[in-house]
This record gives sequence, C-alpha cells and structure tokens, in this order.
Amino acid sequence: MEKVVSLCKRRGFVFPGSDIYGGLQGFWDYGPLGVEIKNNVKREWWKTIVYEREDVVGLDAAIIMNPQIWEASGHTASFTDPLVECKNCHHRFRIDQVENHCPDCGGELTDQKTFNLLTEVYLGSTEPKQKTYLRGEITQGVFVNFKNVINSTRQEIPFGIAQIGKAFRNEITPGNFTFRSREFEQMELEFFIKPGENEANKWFEYWKKQRLNWYTRLGIRKENLRFREHAPDERAHYARAAEDIEYNAPFGWKECEGIHNRGDWDLSRHKLTHNDFTPWVIETSGGVDRATLFFLIDSYSEVGDRVVLKLHPKLAPHKVAVFPLVSNKEALVTKAGEIYKNLKLNLELNPAWDDRGNIGKRYYAQDEIGTPWCVTIDYQTLEDDTVTVRDRDSASQERLPIPKLDTYFTTKLK
Ligand code: GAP
Repeated sequence: MEKVVSLCKRRGFVFPGSDIYGGLQGFWDYGPLGVEIKNNVKREWWKTIVYEREDVVGLDAAIIMNPQIWEASGHTASFTDPLVECKNCHHRFRIDQVENHCPDCGGELTDQKTFNLLTEVYLGSTEPKQKTYLRGEITQGVFVNFKNVINSTRQEIPFGIAQIGKAFRNEITPGNFTFRSREFEQMELEFFIKPGENEANKWFEYWKKQRLNWYTRLGIRKENLRFREHAPDERAHYARAAEDIEYNAPFGWKECEGIHNRGDWDLSRHKLTHNDFTPWVIETSGGVDRATLFFLIDSYSEVGDRVVLKLHPKLAPHKVAVFPLVSNKEALVTKAGEIYKNLKLNLELNPAWDDRGNIGKRYYAQDEIGTPWCVTIDYQTLEDDTVTVRDRDSASQERLPIPKLDTYFTTKLK
C-alpha cells in the first residue's frame, strides 16, 4: 500500500488535498495522471451503463438541494454511523474500527452514540441563513427527477437513470488513502422496475453479474473480487437487500460498490407514482475513487526493482509514448515530432512525449505509469518509414509502418 501511495505522489496521480497548508483530513487532489485514469474509469462506466444500452438515460442533478428532500429520504434521521469517544483523549472512532480501548491512548471508551454524516451548508446573505446539506449520496437527485425524466423521454419501466458526481460525508475516521474520504465521487444507476419481490430478485441478480463483469473486463483479477451480503442490522435505512462487491485490498476485503434493493422506499417518501403504482428500485452504487484506487493496486507489479503498472489500456492515462532514439539528431526529433502530433489527433490515445535520458529509462518511466505501448523513431525510420512499437507487458518489440500506427492502436484498444 505504501508503495502505491508513494508512486501516486511521485508520478502525479494523487496528492494530499490542501498540501501546502498541512492538508485537510479526508480530502485528496488528483494530479495530471490521476485525473486521466479517473476520467477513464468514469467514461468506461458511462459507456457500459448508458451508451451500450437502450433502457438507461443519464442525469446530472445539483449537489445542493432543498433540505426537505433529505428529511423525506430519511437521511437527516438515519444517515448515521455508530461512534465512540475516548474518555481520556476525546478522540472519536467508528465502532467497527476499535476494540475495547482507545487505539490512540488506551483510554476507556464511551457507550455508542449515533453521528449524522451529512455535511451542513448555509445559503443566502441574510440571517438566519438557510441551512441545507451537501449531498450525502448522489441518488436523491435521481428520485426527485423521476417524473421529469419519464415525461421528457420515451422510457418505460423497466428503465434506469445513471449519474456520476460528487458526494460528501462527514466521515468520523477517513483513512486508507482515498478509500474513505469526506469528498468523493459516485457512479450510480437507479433502475426502476415493477413492484414485487420476484421482479426485484431477478434484477438484483442481473445487476450483480453486470457490475462484477465490468471490473473483471477492465482487468481486476477475479480472485480479488467477491460479493458480501449485508446482515439485516447492517443495511442502510433505505435497503430491503444489499450486497457489496468487495476488493481484496492490502488493508483487507473492502467495499468497492453496493448493489441495493431499495424497494419503493424513496419514491414513496417523495410521494411519486407512475401509472397508479410505485416502482421499486434496484441500485448499483460504485465509488469512482475506490474503483480508481483498486485498479491502481491491482495493476501494481514489480519487475526486479522497478514498477510496472499493468493497467488495462482503456484506463491508462497515456495509451502511447513517442520517443526519438536520441535527442541530439535533428532529423530524428523532427520525424518523431510529426508522428507524435499525428497520434495526438486521435483523441483516444493521449500520447506522451519523452526525449530525455536513454531509451531504456524512458521505457521504464512509461511502465511505471501504465503506458501500454511505446513508439521509437530510429535511424531506420529515416530510410523506410517504419518504427519500433514496444509492448509494456511482454516487453516485445515489433516493426510497423508509420501509416499503420493509428489503426494498430485503435484496433488494440477495441
Ligand atoms: N446511494 C447508495 C450509496 O450511497 P453506499 O454504500 O453508502 O451507497 C456507495 O456508497 C459507494 O460509494 C461505496 O461502495 C463506495 O465505493 C463509495 N463510498 C461511500 N463512502 C465513501 C467514502 N467515504 N469515501 C470514498 N468512497 C465512498
């Protein structure tokens, strides 16, 4: 884990938030490479959930909403974590993260209390300001727009509404790098179905399978994923059934995504019906930051004393890197520059350029950030317009004509 965290900082994937002011616990900034992988995770999710289907449409609702929504949804009353406090040092912990005594000073712990995770915000310029909340889950924006979406599209039940966006939770103990943050992104599908247990079970099983496949298709090893069913006393207040997709992280098996049968909880609470019935909802709720972290951890490998990040090409920040063999031969640099600019026109590739140091070091630097292919322009290129393409995982090299490069990478990416 320390190795992944240090790679993230060193190569510009993730930095501590507010770093130059000493940080702020539970907040993280994504650097030039991190924003690319995170965008790729979101894009792949959107492609699978929205573009590949005909029964799902997208939405982007506001982060701040009328506080009545949070009353109705049950979040002001029930969106809580159990908390204990040390009677000696007054540090606070989630109940599941401590044994009998304070992990910081060994002091005695108080009885369990509940702690609401919603983050309050205050709006307007006149006192008293209007109190509302940053959204604790992105979900409620979907439910309150249920009628708007049905009335403005041709969707009929069963159908889904997909959304990606920021959520905020005043977590008692953020930690394990980006795993538990106070600001994070969710990618969620709310799938509306006819009411009833049988229908719900059918779609619940369907979406479990779809979601597990998505992670394995993008390279997470099957043996590092599993389902875990929530016990009835563990379920969120809205859930009739809940299963997590868990990842085998260096800090234990941890929740990556939740699949929930929310029944008619939310639409009933917002007093919304459709054709005289209240649809039920099957939800898939994944964390973008957790998925990104787990893709990074799962792809981390070492060859001798160097790092190879075996990211799926679709997730890699750069698909290709372009190098002139040496940086002091103008003809080579010019030719390589032309190839780089041409590849840049293909917006799927986001090619990197490197002309520093020797070629071996450049390969290794690209391996470390997960670039699947490197293109080297050498003296032979000037004679026959061919280049060397080196593969990250096999380290094998092949010779390709320059005009074929674009199709070669596009085909590989498919
Ligand atoms: N709408 C349902 C919902 O929000 P959840 O299980 O509370 O369900 C869904 O959250 C996903 O959001 C989790 O599986 C996780 O990936 C992500 N998530 C939740 N809390 C998080 C946190 N504090 N930091 C990072 N990701 C978090």
